[in-house]
Amino acid sequence: MTTFSPDPIRTSRLTLLPLRAEYADEMAVVLSDPALHTFTGGTPASAEDLRARYERWVTGSPDPAVAWCNWVIRLRDEACMTGTLQATITTDDRGAAAEIAWVVGTPWQRRGIATEAAQGLVARLRQHPVHTVVAHIHPDHKASAAVAAAAGLTPTDQRHDGEIRWQLTIG
Ligand SMILES: CC(C)(COP(=O)(O)OP(=O)(O)OC[C@H]1O[C@@H](n2cnc3c(N)ncnc32)[C@H](O)[C@@H]1OP(=O)(O)O)[C@@H](O)C(=O)NCCC(=O)NCCS
Repeated sequence: MTTFSPDPIRTSRLTLLPLRAEYADEMAVVLSDPALHTFTGGTPASAEDLRARYERWVTGSPDPAVAWCNWVIRLRDEACMTGTLQATITTDDRGAAAEIAWVVGTPWQRRGIATEAAQGLVARLRQHPVHTVVAHIHPDHKASAAVAAAAGLTPTDQRHDGEIRWQLTIG
């Protein structure tokens, strides 16, 4: 059984709040730009669909070795949600591996929010017995590659569904 749970994470401008289904209405607006799906596929979800998805995520993974940790990214000065951050943590015989991903709504992009959030998450993961942090990024997705690099990950020569595996080995 894994012991990971998404506690709040505070960085200089942001509070990463553990996801709740009630955030779906605000997040549906934050994530409403179809351009957010350019590299990852799919289309923006309605508030209703997002609420159902968030309810599933909060309920947690059916596999006891896997923890689904999700946060909304809150910009404290503007008292608003700006995006989401995800860590899927799989316990193994060496500790745990985390797969991370991020989304920032179009109006808040290019302000270093994804970078600050990802750095805060990786710092938190370092406090747990996480030996590897992984992200899968489309080869043309410069912004996401920059976020991963700033969080300490480096690209590998491994690909998965056309995406490059980025990795940080902690110990
Ligand atoms: C990837 C994403 C989260 C970046 O969010 P952000 O808050 O704008 O990122 P930051 O402001 O921290 O910028 C990170 C870097 O990307 C660069 N960048 C941001 N937007 C960019 C763009 N559209 N084109 C090129 N570079 C961009 C920034 O200049 C910065 O680079 P630097 O550190 O060298 O200055 C955001 O573009 C997004 O949500 N995209 C859609 C969802 C997605 O694809 N998620 C990734 C799944 S792995």
